[in-house]
Amino acid sequence: MPRSDVVVRVAGEGGEGVISVAEILTQSAVDAGYDVFTFRSYPAEIKGGLAMMQVRIAVEPVRSIGRGADVLMAFNQEAIDVWGQPQWLEDGATVLYDPRHARLGEAFPATGVEAPIHDTSMSVTGARISKNIVALAALVRAIGLDPAVARALVEKKFRRKGDDIVRRNLDAFAAGLALGESPALASLRLAPPRDDRGERVVLSGNQSLSLGALAAGVRFVAGYPITPATQVLEFMMKYLPALGGNVVQAEDEISALAHCLGASFAGARAMTATSGPGMCLMSELIGMASMSEIPVVIADVMRSGPGTGMPTKTEQGDLMFAVHGSAGEAPRIVIAATGIEDAFYRAVDAFNLAERFQTPVILLTDQAMAYRTRTLSPPDLSAVPTVSRATPDADALADYRRYVDTDSGVSPMAIPGTAGGEFVMSGLEHDERGKANYAPDNRTKMTRKRWRKLDTLAAELDGNGNGVFDDGDGAEVGVIAWGATEGPIREAIARARAGGLKVAHCHPRVVFPLATRSIRRFVEPLRRLIVVEENFTGQFAQHLRAHVDLGDVEVVQVNQCTGLPFTSDDVYAELERHA
Ligand code: COA
Repeated sequence: MPRSDVVVRVAGEGGEGVISVAEILTQSAVDAGYDVFTFRSYPAEIKGGLAMMQVRIAVEPVRSIGRGADVLMAFNQEAIDVWGQPQWLEDGATVLYDPRHARLGEAFPATGVEAPIHDTSMSVTGARISKNIVALAALVRAIGLDPAVARALVEKKFRRKGDDIVRRNLDAFAAGLALGESPALASLRLAPPRDDRGERVVLSGNQSLSLGALAAGVRFVAGYPITPATQVLEFMMKYLPALGGNVVQAEDEISALAHCLGASFAGARAMTATSGPGMCLMSELIGMASMSEIPVVIADVMRSGPGTGMPTKTEQGDLMFAVHGSAGEAPRIVIAATGIEDAFYRAVDAFNLAERFQTPVILLTDQAMAYRTRTLSPPDLSAVPTVSRATPDADALADYRRYVDTDSGVSPMAIPGTAGGEFVMSGLEHDERGKANYAPDNRTKMTRKRWRKLDTLAAELDGNGNGVFDDGDGAEVGVIAWGATEGPIREAIARARAGGLKVAHCHPRVVFPLATRSIRRFVEPLRRLIVVEENFTGQFAQHLRAHVDLGDVEVVQVNQCTGLPFTSDDVYAELERHA
């Protein structure tokens, strides 16, 4: 019986073309009409080390990378030693391996199927580099994808490398198809895709965030390359100029944010994208933006720290930094995107909130979300409201006070060149006109004004909902989390509910300020609150304790800092233990 969902994992040494195989497999599945969800993990080195990419191909829409692999295509021994462990394989999994480069060992937890990809590549191309394309063909045939589509993608992929490389790889592809016809692989065959899907696109998290920024009207981007955020800068260099915008590759992250503040001060919607180490450099300018009330969006694509850490691995390690990082107490808004699709809409929110509240907005995503890809319906552009910053009217300009104290904390901001709208802007404490002023009363007044903006937002979030608030039909156990764990948590909860467990779920989008009253209402009926996070210390758990009255609820922290995202299996195991 054909399956409705297959998880394919390809692993081998960096440089062996693992990623190419998985990417072509992904596009072949998408072109056929399947839903895909991918994940990749590789070292920071350009060559060597263990590279892995996982592709989940499904008939119905999927929200996570899935559980263990149904099939592991292992290019070398390390791929088997690491990704052939029982916890990474589904029951009944198949491991395709080349006996020339790997052995399975005794009591191996999966069915091994020999695939002589090296020798096949050597015999048809005279070189081993195309063994990955032999493997690709075997997988295409075993899963039941259209070989003609995959073949065309191979041709397209290597076209820039010349006719000879293309020809060799097409020969390798033709030879590899036979390897996929082994009866031992019959269980991998997928059911036909649905044909009622309508238009679908495949996006990575970085692409989705970038598109959201374009839809929100970004007109200036400055950045400094850093894994895993560089793709945002590259995307903007490619597309923003055509929309009349400007992109600057700055000399470092400090300068990048300074460029953005200048552009925003002049009236443009501005953004930078970086990762943890870049955030560290930007921290002085975050304080400057907060003090001088300049709207700016800072996308932090989180990676494993501290220090250089693990640049190509994921972690939710920057929450506390995003909320607090800078000199002094600098109000800012922090939003956490929960997945690829969500990154588009949260980027829109980030710009609108930055403009409305004239403050830095930090948009948190992470390495796993940034690099993985997923099939989606095209983003809904009609769901993209754009909010402009408040500007002074004629009355206000008659006696312009840039930082006039208001009930909301927001003061109309004149764009340079506005007659009567001249003011002094600096990172110093200032009075309502922007003039440096260190008087105790003024200091208190202006600090309150800046922080009041967050009170205004928090009250709105309490009124409007802010993400997922699902009471689990009177459940006594609830999960609360933030960012990219939403997909695995939702899948695990659906499975738990199907098995009779009652579990509530809360997943706020704006994580600073928190919608404290809504979260309090969510927590109140619970006996136990499970806080799921991809970090070691439980930063969100601490953040919750600091801002929300959690009453008598027992808080259980579930943390992982392996560099890998949680799977729904991981979360389900915790639900079974604690619910
Ligand atoms: N025939 C010819 N060329 C082939 C091929 C084939 N059959 N299969 C793959 N290749 C080429 C690819 O086109 C690619 O070439 P390119 O570099 O010119 O694009 C190259 O071999 C690597 O293949 P690919 O499939 O893209 O990657 P891989 O699975 O071998 O893994 C990476 C290599 C991705 C791990 C590594 O290159 C990398 O990028 N590491 C991370 C670097 C980083 O971000 N560091 C952080 C710094 S802070």
